[in-house]
Amino acid sequence: MYQDFNVMVQELNSIETLRNDFVSNVSHEFKTPLSTIQGYVQLLQNPDLSGEERQVFLQRIIEGITQLSQLTENVLKLNKLENQHTLMEKKEFRLDEQIREVILFLQPKWEKEQLQLDIQMEKVKYFGNEELLYQVWLNIMDNAIKYNLPTGKISVKLAQTKEEVVLEVTDSGIGMNEGTVTKIFDKFYQGDTSHQNAGNGLGLSLVKKILELHQARIDYSSIENVGTTVMIRLENTEKNVVAQSVELQVIRMLF
Ligand SMILES: Nc1ncnc2c1ncn2[C@@H]1O[C@H](COP(=O)(O)OP(=O)(O)OP(=O)(O)O)[C@@H](O)[C@H]1O
Ligand SMILES: [Mg+2]
Repeated sequence: MYQDFNVMVQELNSIETLRNDFVSNVSHEFKTPLSTIQGYVQLLQNPDLSGEERQVFLQRIIEGITQLSQLTENVLKLNKLENQHTLMEKKEFRLDEQIREVILFLQPKWEKEQLQLDIQMEKVKYFGNEELLYQVWLNIMDNAIKYNLPTGKISVKLAQTKEEVVLEVTDSGIGMNEGTVTKIFDKFYQGDTSHQNAGNGLGLSLVKKILELHQARIDYSSIENVGTTVMIRLENTEKNVVAQSVELQVIRMLF
């Protein structure tokens, strides 16, 4: 009962925090796509439009709706993670394969910008939450593409030592100044406020939260107009996994 009550208070607190953030930050994020949708719906009411114009306006409306649904989805994901604390399903999987999967998924985006990818990944097994970590690589790679320049480069390196697994993603993009780097994990922060790039500034807030749940570190180094390197350090769990399976074998032998 006491436990339940504590959990309830905690949940209410975080809902309250979310609500405050929601009012002050999200309203603007919602307004932009909503006014886009409103504008094009009004334009569509004109009966003299050509079929081609109609298609263009409909496409803009679809884009606005996609933006809204992504925003809602990310707010919900973040809220869920903030209430998650430590409990989550973990299993062993191949990290290099997962990252390759993300790169493949993003292929249309990096091909469109004619980016050159240099991928050097060791075979790495990791024990963690597969679904959440997928979101991490997706956000990091999406940023490396989005904040790059056409025909730019991205290098992806994955290596492990006995102690840790290190992922390093370097892009040759627009980079950031020191002031920007300190704010990138803040909810809704976007370096470029002109909304030229799609997104809501929630990607790295999600990344940070997920990495915290895995006791991992993330560090950025960036130079404006040169590029950005992000380094993620995860504890190497292969030795833990081995230890665990030995433990299981011992238990099986005992019973
Ligand atoms: N590789 C990068 N190069 C330059 N700037 C970056 C890079 N990664 C992140 N940033 C800066 O950090 C900000 C926050 O990043 P984040 O991923 O949280 O949001 P976003 O990409 O703008 O939107 P979303 O991830 O929600 O689609 C970005 O708007 C951008 O200014
Ligand atoms: Mg992003």
